[in-house]
Amino acid sequence: MTELQKRLRENAAKEQMKIPAVAEGRYRCRYHLMPPVGWMNDPNGLCYANGLYHVFFQYAPESARGTGMRSWGHYAGTDLLHWTFYGVAIYPDTEWDEDGAYSGSALPDGKGLRIYYTGNIKRKDKEYDYISDGRESNTILIRSEDGFTFGEKQVLLRACDYPEEFTRHIRDPKVEKTPQGYRMVLGGRLKGDTGAILVYESQDGIQFSLQKVVTTPRKFGYMWECPDLFSLNGKQFVCVSPQGVPHERYKFQSVYSSGYFVGEADAENYREWDCGFDFYAPQTFWDGNRRILYGWIGMPDVPYDNVPTIAEGWQHALTMPRELTEKKGKLYQMPAAELKNLRGCELSMQEECTAYNLELENISAGTKVLLSDALEILFEKEECVLRFLTEAGRGRTERRGKVCAEKASIFMDVSVCEIYVNDGECVFTTRLYPEKYAVKIEGGCTAKRYEMNGYTVGVDIQK
Ligand code: FRU
Repeated sequence: MTELQKRLRENAAKEQMKIPAVAEGRYRCRYHLMPPVGWMNDPNGLCYANGLYHVFFQYAPESARGTGMRSWGHYAGTDLLHWTFYGVAIYPDTEWDEDGAYSGSALPDGKGLRIYYTGNIKRKDKEYDYISDGRESNTILIRSEDGFTFGEKQVLLRACDYPEEFTRHIRDPKVEKTPQGYRMVLGGRLKGDTGAILVYESQDGIQFSLQKVVTTPRKFGYMWECPDLFSLNGKQFVCVSPQGVPHERYKFQSVYSSGYFVGEADAENYREWDCGFDFYAPQTFWDGNRRILYGWIGMPDVPYDNVPTIAEGWQHALTMPRELTEKKGKLYQMPAAELKNLRGCELSMQEECTAYNLELENISAGTKVLLSDALEILFEKEECVLRFLTEAGRGRTERRGKVCAEKASIFMDVSVCEIYVNDGECVFTTRLYPEKYAVKIEGGCTAKRYEMNGYTVGVDIQK
């Protein structure tokens, strides 16, 4: 083992001693996956293999502020409700990834897994702009025989293999099996600062050749991160997390966006996954029966914060698993059916319960729901407005979705709220840090409120 490999393992082991203390935190989530300690960003390597769901994620255990080097953390479980944390799966510990084991994907492979990810390298020998030079992204494959121990790193593509027309920003391989072999998409930034994806094909999942570059006819942001490409109900969806798209009233309200093009990549065909404050870099996978999405409940470079959880030694979370269905070219998102099993007893609106599900039906225009005296949800005739009234939003202000609400499923989980309007036609995700948890409703709707039980989360970091 090299010095670097030893140091990274010792550091992670030291930080992970703090897991029991984080589990005591006032704002920790009960039915959302969060970092056991430290920092979490993108969901990675999502798959269902040999009877297990694997949820890997961008993980930096040593700092809740995210200053640490990115590795891959690993949760796995059989039913989306009972999880075990298996520690760090991939450390940034070789010359190909020493500045971060960045985002990527996984595929079942016999009894094990194949993992594809970006090895990030940042040269420090002189001054660079880190756009046109100074940065390298290696596309790396790791095989696992059993899904839990990870073998040698094999570099599949390096800086000199990517097309000339791109800057040094290329990353986040998402690989899918196809009838012909394998298809990989990578996100990138073209010279001239235009977002695009690179589509590769391969027979064996090792030797990839570039098939095409996909971008919009007119510039749609300067960089596209975390691409994904799949078909559902006979339609093709090209998913990206674009950076640098100008703000509009109902779209691109956050610093960065994430959404999908229906069919061709064209701004006209683009829909955002989520209209809330905290949602970015999602990934999807097919579990044999359905396409499931997890998103990162977080966003880089925001003017608001999560100081209350940083004080508890952790930051960020993942959404509930969302099942995707296609209706008239639109993707609807609802929590996977399994989550219904967490529903507990019925609650009154006044009860102080930190984890609950509020179901609203027959919503009439003008209905106002107030969560925790802090977050107002206003259902207007043609829009739904989310507005923070207090500092519980830590600087979050207002978000809008263009939707005529008939019903809504609201999931509050201590410091996370996910709001699904009209069976997932429009979704809002936000962090919030309230003192109290009662609900008030003004206007016309039928409402039921249920307690939500938590996931069971164990820790197994033997290796
Ligand atoms: C998206 C992202 C990815 C990158 C990862 C690094 O949030 O910037 O493009 O691989 O995070 O943590």
